[in-house]
Amino acid sequence: MKKELIKDVKKSFKAHFKTKPLMVFAPGRINLIGEHTDYNDGFAFPAAINKGIVLAIGKSDSDASKTYALNKEELYEFGLENIKPLENGGWRNYILGVISEIEKLGLKIGNFNSVFAGNIPSGGGMSSSAALENSFVFGLNELFNLGLTKNEMILVSQKAEHNFAGVKCGIMDQYASMFGVKKSALLLDCRTVKSKTYKIDFKNYKLMLINTNVKHDLSESAYNARRNVCESVSKKLNVKALRDVSVENLNKIKNSISNDDYEKTRYVLEENQRVKLFSEAIQEDDLKTLGKLLFQSHKGLRTQYKVSCTELDFLVDRAKDNPNVLGARMMGGGFGGCTINLVLKRAADDFAKEVSHKYLLEFGKSCSIYSLKLSAGTRVIK
Ligand code: GLA
Repeated sequence: MKKELIKDVKKSFKAHFKTKPLMVFAPGRINLIGEHTDYNDGFAFPAAINKGIVLAIGKSDSDASKTYALNKEELYEFGLENIKPLENGGWRNYILGVISEIEKLGLKIGNFNSVFAGNIPSGGGMSSSAALENSFVFGLNELFNLGLTKNEMILVSQKAEHNFAGVKCGIMDQYASMFGVKKSALLLDCRTVKSKTYKIDFKNYKLMLINTNVKHDLSESAYNARRNVCESVSKKLNVKALRDVSVENLNKIKNSISNDDYEKTRYVLEENQRVKLFSEAIQEDDLKTLGKLLFQSHKGLRTQYKVSCTELDFLVDRAKDNPNVLGARMMGGGFGGCTINLVLKRAADDFAKEVSHKYLLEFGKSCSIYSLKLSAGTRVIK
């Protein structure tokens, strides 16, 4: 699949621009556990996957830059000065955002030509946008010798998302897509922006994603609203972020915040705790505990943090009904996208069939099933 993608992108670049490009791959990500903790300086447990964005890029001596989105068959031509977000710019804004954030650092790039394509299901909560941002910042860094470190590059990508896509995201997606390690997940401390690598081997079990194939409209505004709640509670408690708050401290102000805000904050504190327990259970090969933590995480996201939706809840409930599934939860920002499931390998096909059938009956549309490989992060493709 990826080989085909690389071939197609390269071919399209040569057809459009008649030169040989630099080729970059930037993966999407999953997250084992630790949702909505990253912008609270907390912990997350993401991994890069073998689906992503392939970018072909090369210098241009014309007075404009060009990007061709191969999947959409859309060509966009733009100048490098006075870059601003476009209204309804879609994919264009991620690229413009990256360029603008590079320029804000006082770095200079020249015009370039580019073609990109990807195989991350969009809206699936696997961070196709972070992959797109990372592919461009990485490609431009190589092409124009900007000297940015990987840590600097992911901040460029994150700011592009903040300022050009309007989502005040944390650092998890860009980090995982940049720093991913083959067959491993990264226990990420979002305060220090450093991670510990865990080899992932679930023995007789495997990870399976089930895509609801829905993306409810409110996801972006609701995301920013959640972040505001966390920040205002932190302020009230006089701390930098919820990372610094214990349940005891939170309980001290319980009566001066709404019950809703209390529950949301409580969720974040508990989810941080679950990430730690999850990493310990991985080391002990304690799969049952891993499963339990996944279900608990979903419950928190559904009832306390309130970022789930009917379709996600339905899929997690079907996982609960099935003794061959140890655990499941919604993954990513919420309001649609995928659930992540820990499923007995030899029962995985049956579960997939069963859940697909039930989903179709319930919602009159199909869900999609993916099994995946954990992959290395953003890199040049030779
Ligand atoms: C989105 C954001 C991430 C993170 C997750 C929720 O994917 O981009 O920064 O906050 O939601 O865990």
